[in-house]
Amino acid sequence: MSTSPGLGMPSAPLLVYLLLALFIQFTSGETEVKFSGQTEFVVNETSTTVIRLVIERTGKPANITAIVSIDGENTGDFFDTYAAAFIPDTETNRTVYISVCDDDLPEADETFTFYLTLPKPSATIKLGSPKSVTVTILSNDNAFGIISFNMSALITVNEPRGRNEFVPLTLIRERGTYGTVIVTFEIDDGPNPAEEDLSPARGNITFTPGRSILIYNLTVLDDQVPENDELFVVYLRNVEGGAEINNTKNSVQISIKKNDSPVRFVQSAYMVPEEVDVVTIQVIRGKDVSGKLIGPDEHEVSVRYAIITGNSTAHAQLNVDFLDLQPNTTIIFP
Ligand SMILES: *[C@@H]1O[C@H](CO)[C@@H](O)[C@H](O)[C@H]1NC(C)=O
Ligand SMILES: *[C@@H]1O[C@H](CO)[C@@H](O)[C@H](O)[C@H]1NC(C)=O
Ligand SMILES: *[C@@H]1O[C@H](CO)[C@@H](O)[C@H](O)[C@H]1NC(C)=O
Ligand SMILES: *[C@@H]1O[C@H](CO)[C@@H](O)[C@H](O)[C@H]1NC(C)=O
Ligand SMILES: *[C@@H]1O[C@H](CO)[C@@H](O)[C@H](O)[C@H]1NC(C)=O
Ligand SMILES: *[C@@H]1O[C@H](CO)[C@@H](O)[C@H](O)[C@H]1NC(C)=O
Ligand SMILES: *[C@@H]1O[C@H](CO)[C@@H](O)[C@H](O)[C@H]1NC(C)=O
Ligand SMILES: *[C@@H]1O[C@H](CO)[C@@H](O)[C@H](O)[C@H]1NC(C)=O
Ligand SMILES: *[C@@H]1O[C@H](CO)[C@@H](O)[C@H](O)[C@H]1NC(C)=O
Repeated sequence: MSTSPGLGMPSAPLLVYLLLALFIQFTSGETEVKFSGQTEFVVNETSTTVIRLVIERTGKPANITAIVSIDGENTGDFFDTYAAAFIPDTETNRTVYISVCDDDLPEADETFTFYLTLPKPSATIKLGSPKSVTVTILSNDNAFGIISFNMSALITVNEPRGRNEFVPLTLIRERGTYGTVIVTFEIDDGPNPAEEDLSPARGNITFTPGRSILIYNLTVLDDQVPENDELFVVYLRNVEGGAEINNTKNSVQISIKKNDSPVRFVQSAYMVPEEVDVVTIQVIRGKDVSGKLIGPDEHEVSVRYAIITGNSTAHAQLNVDFLDLQPNTTIIFP
């Protein structure tokens, strides 16, 4: 086998020359140090989160020490906020590892900057670009809070008379209190629509930034309708602003006590012959027209009555035609 030396591989001296030329081009020029690869990091705060920063030297080989340090104060979010990297003249890069501290502190998104610097200023070595990286640690440890009721699971209220009564709902925002958080509640499960007894029946409760506890007043309406005990449930339905709802304490029951128990005559007219000795006029409470029990009966109630007679001879007259056998005009329901 024979090949022509002119057309095949370049001759040995030429190869050496080419390599030399390449080498010279590669190694000539100023020595620069810079970050290489990824320069923007977005990470979660976990104990296994490590950020890899690659520092690269270009240009003329040199023994280089470069410093990576955080901008500003050490906030405790990283194990190390300062690292020195030595790149010997035989290598071109070094990787620096920065570990994130997994604390239990609720924090919103935070962005940090790390800068590359050279400890010794030198005429032949300079900083290239990029010379900074940013690290964003995402909000963590429930930065925006966990919302729940902070009150007993059942509260009992009396329907007010002639005025509106408040039911204070106490809510807490545990852990973080960053940002504005809006909680939507709804009252449900009652025997009738909640609007008839409570106001508002649904709405939004706002936690302003930094706020960890608040009291929201519901109004119990005085509807003047005789009712039995009514049970309603207030639910936290939804939350906006990054918070969560603690599902073990997301509802409270409101019991509105029986109210507006009616007191009434059983019969509106009695016609009796004169021979009858005693006429019993029944007055009852806590029953509706059909005789069904309604309203509370655990408290003493007193009712006053008056006897009104006509003036003409056609009307029966008190103490003439009949006597009131009651000691006084007050009837007491114990
Ligand atoms: C952070 O964690 C959440 C879940 O905990 C995950 O969905 C998300 O992808 C993670 N983000 C990064 C940048 O690792
Ligand atoms: C780098 O350091 C080594 C060991 O100290 C030394 O032998 C070498 O000459 C240095 N290189 C340069 C370019 O100064
Ligand atoms: C870093 O240096 C190693 C050898 O030390 C090399 O294999 C690698 O390609 C270099 N990486 C970069 C990004 O220059
Ligand atoms: C209210 O919250 C505080 C603080 O978290 C807690 O100690 C207390 O037990 C809570 N009370 C109720 C009734 O949930
Ligand atoms: C509560 O907030 C949600 C979303 O922000 C909104 O759609 C809704 O209309 C609000 N409800 C009330 C009663 O204000
Ligand atoms: C809630 O009602 C209580 C009285 O029960 C009152 O002192 C308080 O000021 C009310 N709060 C609001 C925000 O209306
Ligand atoms: C939810 O509330 C329960 C009862 O108060 C409490 O034990 C639990 O720690 C809370 N959960 C969260 C995630 O805060
Ligand atoms: C009955 O007559 C007297 C005197 O005329 C009068 O003062 C009184 O108001 C009358 N009563 C009724 C119930 O009409
Ligand atoms: C009415 O009489 C009852 C006894 O039947 C008595 O207990 C009550 O105190 C009396 N009330 C008045 C206002 O005199």
